[in-house]
Amino acid sequence: MSSPIIAPSVLAADFANLQQDVEMLNESQADWIHVDIMDGVFVPNISFGIPVCDAINQHAKKPLDVHLMIQKPEQYLKAFRDVGAANITVHYEATDHLHRALQEIKALDCRAGVAINPHTNVQLLEDTIADIDLVCIMSVNPGFGGQKFIENTYKKVRQLKEIIAENDANTLIEIDGGVNIRNAPLLMEAGADILVAGSFVFKSVDPQMTIEELKNI
Ligand code: DX5
Ligand code: ZN
Repeated sequence: MSSPIIAPSVLAADFANLQQDVEMLNESQADWIHVDIMDGVFVPNISFGIPVCDAINQHAKKPLDVHLMIQKPEQYLKAFRDVGAANITVHYEATDHLHRALQEIKALDCRAGVAINPHTNVQLLEDTIADIDLVCIMSVNPGFGGQKFIENTYKKVRQLKEIIAENDANTLIEIDGGVNIRNAPLLMEAGADILVAGSFVFKSVDPQMTIEELKNI
């Protein structure tokens, strides 16, 4: 079992001291910085948008993993690439033209991601898996940090792993929501590659140490 790609979510950072938190991530063993964009329509919460992503990018020394929890994400792909997104993940449930959106993300030279809500079956990705660089399996209902991990996620990871193998794809599996040191090893065993963690990192006494613990499970 190789070590996970760790992507701490700045949704749980101190927004009044964002630069400080981004610099802490630069110094840590984090691989990517997960940036949660919420529009108040696709999810019942509003986080922040393009200018804040730009501000994070001014200080970040690690790739930005941008998770768009917004309706019709295809309208904003270029805007997020222009403020530093290395990965752009759209929701399966938020676009009528997933395949087109994936092609557009790749044309922008970003990694193309698809996130699926807890109710969305992984089988629905069979026809696009070869075009997806990463699948983000939501292990909570999107919209808020600090929620309880949904146990059914393990099954989804195993099913998705099979679909990826059957299609000879190189797709990475990312888990987002309620990740902690207890479920992280189980997720890796099931086949996950990337762990997103918000509260577990930022609400801990020593976030850098917590990132190191997750990295070294
Ligand atoms: C939830 C977001 C997550 C969130 C994770 O809608 O997509 O990335 O920040 O936060 P925790 O780790 O606290 O569940
Ligand atoms: Zn997220």
